[in-house]
Amino acid sequence: TGMFTYDPGFTSTASCSSTITYIDGEKGELRYRGYPIEELAMKKSYLEVCYLLLNGELPSPEELAAYDYEFRKRAYVHEGLKNLFYSFPDNAHPMAMLSSAVSALSTFYSEHIMMRNDEDLQVMRRRLLAKVPTLAAFAYRRSLGIPFIYPDLERSFTENFLYMIHAYPGQDLKIPEVQVRALDTIFTLHADHEQNASTTVVRSVASTGAHPYAAITAGINALWGRAHGGANESVIAQLEYIGSVERVDEFIARTKDPEDDFRLMGFGHRVYKNFDPRAKILKKLLDEMKDELNVDSELLQIAEKIEAVALSDDYFISRKLYPNIDFYSGLILTALKIPKEMFTIIFVIGRTVGWLAQWLEFHADSEKKIARPRQRYIGPETRSLT
Ligand code: CMC
Repeated sequence: TGMFTYDPGFTSTASCSSTITYIDGEKGELRYRGYPIEELAMKKSYLEVCYLLLNGELPSPEELAAYDYEFRKRAYVHEGLKNLFYSFPDNAHPMAMLSSAVSALSTFYSEHIMMRNDEDLQVMRRRLLAKVPTLAAFAYRRSLGIPFIYPDLERSFTENFLYMIHAYPGQDLKIPEVQVRALDTIFTLHADHEQNASTTVVRSVASTGAHPYAAITAGINALWGRAHGGANESVIAQLEYIGSVERVDEFIARTKDPEDDFRLMGFGHRVYKNFDPRAKILKKLLDEMKDELNVDSELLQIAEKIEAVALSDDYFISRKLYPNIDFYSGLILTALKIPKEMFTIIFVIGRTVGWLAQWLEFHADSEKKIARPRQRYIGPETRSLT
């Protein structure tokens, strides 16, 4: 191809250098800033992980307390944003509402979007991290037509989100600790994943000089597709559609039929070729918490049967297809009484920090360049109108 390499899907192109996340797809390893994901998921809170991703080091207890306070204080959103939600039709998908609302943050908080100095960037970073969960909860409540619940300063990040989606106005709803822990782990597992499609989009938008609200909105929309973050919603829809353990073989057969484009949602990954370490952690969490969390045993059985059949089938073995993070997350979220239309939003809440860390890293990079791939032109030769 002459001057450049032809690499559709960027399967062998590194677009940047990064110090944030390391993945070894053959060994199934994932690390944030050098720490294995298994250790972080078990021993650290999501907020500590946010601090680590953005600052490179874990926070001291004092730093964590200040960080936590900052999140709580900034979780409120401009009252005018509520009107945006009221203007959406009843059947609007929560992801569509969330991406519009995040984009609209740049209208309500426009004083920093010129990015004159580092403080402007830091303010946008804080606002995005603290307000995305509130907007996500508003999107959910608007989809049901029920009153919005404001953030509660007395509650931690993850507990607050569950409170904002589940409470009645004025109700001091107690959120069980087991639920907070489960969702906190899910956020941690989604926090960053190096140069996946949505992060590549965020970096591309950053490379044009656009501000973080614009870049993160683009990331949210890129995440929505079912080959990416949208897979978690599709997994549960598919498990419900399959409907019983007896029908699993029929769908495995459809997957293998070259005439049928049916794909098992929650299976396969561009980088992981032996297992997805995040899926392993979620499966373990599911096993540990299934009684306490009241997991839907019928759906879990279907999922386990699919995993067992697929992992012993030549089609899946030869293509190195294993369950990914989205395969089990939906079962846990269903147990938290979060409907499937909200699953990709949960992914957004967890991933916002990763997008921001990548956005900041892009701008600090002395080798940064506008994203501008080349193409292989295969259209007509020069021709004339006459
Ligand atoms: N079910 C059945 N067959 C599959 C699947 C699947 N889920 N995934 C890949 N294959 C087959 C595919 O048909 C192809 O077979 P062949 O060589 O005979 O044409 C082969 O495996 C390679 O697939 P590919 O699409 O070329 O692989 P990719 O690296 O481009 O795509 C993927 C990776 C994640 C998009 C894909 O595996 C997929 O569509 N999976 C289902 C959606 C999903 O679970 N996505 C979540 C990904 S992890 C978290 C996230 O990013 O959100």
